[in-house]
Amino acid sequence: MTDAHTLHGKTAIVTGASSGIGRATAELLGQKGAHVYLVGRTQTALDEVRNLIVKAGGTASVACVNINETGRIASLVQRALDETTRLDIMVNNAGLEYPGSIIDGEADQWREMVDTNILALLSGCQAGVKAMRTCGAQGHIVNVSSVSAQRPNSGVYGATKHAVNVISSSLRDELEDDDIRITNVMPGATSTNFARNFPPAFAEQFINAAGLDIPFTPGQRLPAEILNTLANNLKPMLCNPIDVANAVIYAVSQPINVNIAEIVVRPPRAMNVAH
Ligand SMILES: NC(=O)c1ccc[n+]([C@@H]2O[C@H](COP(=O)([O-])OP(=O)(O)OC[C@H]3O[C@@H](n4cnc5c(N)ncnc54)[C@H](OP(=O)(O)O)[C@@H]3O)[C@@H](O)[C@H]2O)c1
Repeated sequence: MTDAHTLHGKTAIVTGASSGIGRATAELLGQKGAHVYLVGRTQTALDEVRNLIVKAGGTASVACVNINETGRIASLVQRALDETTRLDIMVNNAGLEYPGSIIDGEADQWREMVDTNILALLSGCQAGVKAMRTCGAQGHIVNVSSVSAQRPNSGVYGATKHAVNVISSSLRDELEDDDIRITNVMPGATSTNFARNFPPAFAEQFINAAGLDIPFTPGQRLPAEILNTLANNLKPMLCNPIDVANAVIYAVSQPINVNIAEIVVRPPRAMNVAH
């Protein structure tokens, strides 16, 4: 085994692995030798990520599910345990934002943000810890928060990410006597499909500034190659998802007596998006 395969023999679960930060993290975990469970809602994108991991010599399994359905996270953690006898790394990354003011916001959108960004992440933490204890793993749980959690006025989305920070800190306290470490990652603006629920004009300003001429419709997922071009052409303003993935790999590769508690990964220029 070479240094490039430092996670060989480990099992990892990544939620939101069909796009953006989760996809980049899953690919890197696979390259490092972990067997990766790829969780998301878009079958073709998940299959594409699995094929890339396999092509690079790794192994992965696909779970095309809505993690907001009751019991989903617990059953997919159990699946990983049943199939590989282990769980070493749980990356609770899936998340979304509906931007907008509180006064004009819609309850259905608030509910989806709370369900995905907080409740599914909580279930991932709980099921992950139980599985790691069951198999005796020296485990790592990574929660993907946001720099929005550093601002007091970041709206409903920011409130969900403040909650993620509190959950990560509380869980870290609860697990001081376990061999399970908690890392809270706060990305800044990153070139992903995160803007899919933003007004099209928001995404279009980046697409145009990057010199691309493609239409953008609400809810649209852009191909990874386009997102990569955006990141390359708008370097001071946008991180590449791989930048965040590298931080996750760093955290989960540390010895168990070292807890990389919090990481902020952001581009040089701060983007203050009105909520
Ligand atoms: N990009 C940024 O600027 C930024 C900044 C700070 C924090 N973040 C955080 O980074 C994390 C990843 O977001 P991203 O930027 O990579 O956005 P993204 O490209 O839109 O990816 C989001 C991922 O979450 C999955 N997902 C969402 N809801 C789901 C559900 N109910 N069930 C299963 N999967 C679900 C999506 O699956 P499908 O596509 O298959 O539906 C997708 O794989 C989020 O927690 C986000 O809040 C992003």
